[in-house]
Amino acid sequence: MQHAYQQCINPDCNATFGTDEVHVSCPTCSAKGVSSLLDIRYDWSKLPVPKSLAHFESRWATKGRGDTGKLDFSGIWRFRDLLPFYNNESDIVTVGEGRTLLQSADLLAKQIGVDAGNLFLQYEGLNPSGSFKDNGMTAAFTHAKMVGASRVACASTGNTSASLALFAAHAEMVGIVFIGSGKIAYGKLSQALDYGARTLQIQGDFDACLHRVKQIATENKELGIYLMNSVNPFRLEGQKSIMFRVLESLNWEIPDWIVVPGGNLGNCSAFGKAFMELKELGLIDRIPRLAVIQAAGANPLHVLYNEKGIRWNDGRPDHATINAFYKQMDDDNYHAQTVASAIEIGRPVNLIKSLRALDVMDGVVRQVDDPTILEYRAMVARYGFGCEPASAASVAGAHMLRKEGLISASDKVVCILTGHELKDPDATVKYHTGIDMKAVQESAPRSEPKGCIANKPIPVADDLDAIIAAIGAPAQVG
Ligand code: F0G
Repeated sequence: MQHAYQQCINPDCNATFGTDEVHVSCPTCSAKGVSSLLDIRYDWSKLPVPKSLAHFESRWATKGRGDTGKLDFSGIWRFRDLLPFYNNESDIVTVGEGRTLLQSADLLAKQIGVDAGNLFLQYEGLNPSGSFKDNGMTAAFTHAKMVGASRVACASTGNTSASLALFAAHAEMVGIVFIGSGKIAYGKLSQALDYGARTLQIQGDFDACLHRVKQIATENKELGIYLMNSVNPFRLEGQKSIMFRVLESLNWEIPDWIVVPGGNLGNCSAFGKAFMELKELGLIDRIPRLAVIQAAGANPLHVLYNEKGIRWNDGRPDHATINAFYKQMDDDNYHAQTVASAIEIGRPVNLIKSLRALDVMDGVVRQVDDPTILEYRAMVARYGFGCEPASAASVAGAHMLRKEGLISASDKVVCILTGHELKDPDATVKYHTGIDMKAVQESAPRSEPKGCIANKPIPVADDLDAIIAAIGAPAQVG
């Protein structure tokens, strides 16, 4: 067996596949009509595992110079020994991602009743494309390069598309992004267009976009499209590094709580896997608790976990109840709706992996409503460095848990700020002035763009043939 492989997370299957294969779900389970996610696994006995986490500190000194300088500079690949799925270091696609900051936030701590010195904000908005997505994208693009992909695609509420577009431009691949009509914050849309991705504005929401892009990547293989959403297990390998950097900033001390907003549930799933592996490798002796915070208007994990009692159950969660919940959602024609557009997701693809993370990290799930999210976003801006609305759900959730007494004043709490404040300035302007910039923009007069490399979004019906036509045929080789 190879040192790294893909494995089905369903314990009744456990099928394995090489890292040279491309799957977005387990083919063995799919053949039986079951949908199951894959994990990246390692045979650590064949790999040089560092004896302590402090090992990684030696890489700070290279300053991006020398043979491995570019990798050491990246906040993901500095930890490459903990995500060694690549064959050669030359496979790695990096744009200098992951150089983010853990800020001690005493002013905010005072607001939410945590002792000074105990509240930390992990600023993933400091990534090159302005969100945590770059952590995963660098890993997934590395895999895409390993398998010779030339066209990559994702569905997105905005940040994934911005990140994909940036990496596609650098890796000289064709980037194709599916976004829901009228759903995306302008800062994110502007990035996808500016970095040159083919931007399809599908008449539907994020869930519809994800359904279509999965269909395109898996059932229409002749189109040669590599899927970059977080069903791609390589993405989550990169996102583990957010936790490595948190520990690094805390001088390898384990905090008591990690608090993170939950949408498609990839990030929290990656965090659970990071701690599971660090413990397995003997690199830590304790695992922090996890709090996943959802928007009340996009709260499937909250309902399933807190109201229906769904648990990981050693890899055998109650699928019948989960499926009945989704069927009811369809019957009611329910669509997620929240001001935190980044997490406006009704059917999170990583639901099952998130249950594992909650199990590993003794986790809890909470929901916060839109006015609360907006209030805490403003509070983070006033007392921290700012973030976009979805990110502030973490701070709102931390305060809620503090008031419940689950988090105590002396606990060390890390809130993950997933996206930069400037991603969604409209939300900020509306909060402070009452002006709805989106409505202003939508009613503004339009003219044809004149720029030499203008890249207009393409409006497309939620229809497979129309989408395939809008994507265009793969380029002929030779
Ligand atoms: N915060 C921000 C700023 C996000 O953009 C997202 C997800 C999340 C939190 C939730 O993370 O999905 O791993 O639970 N944005 C995706 C996108 C869905 O398309 O940009 P998750």
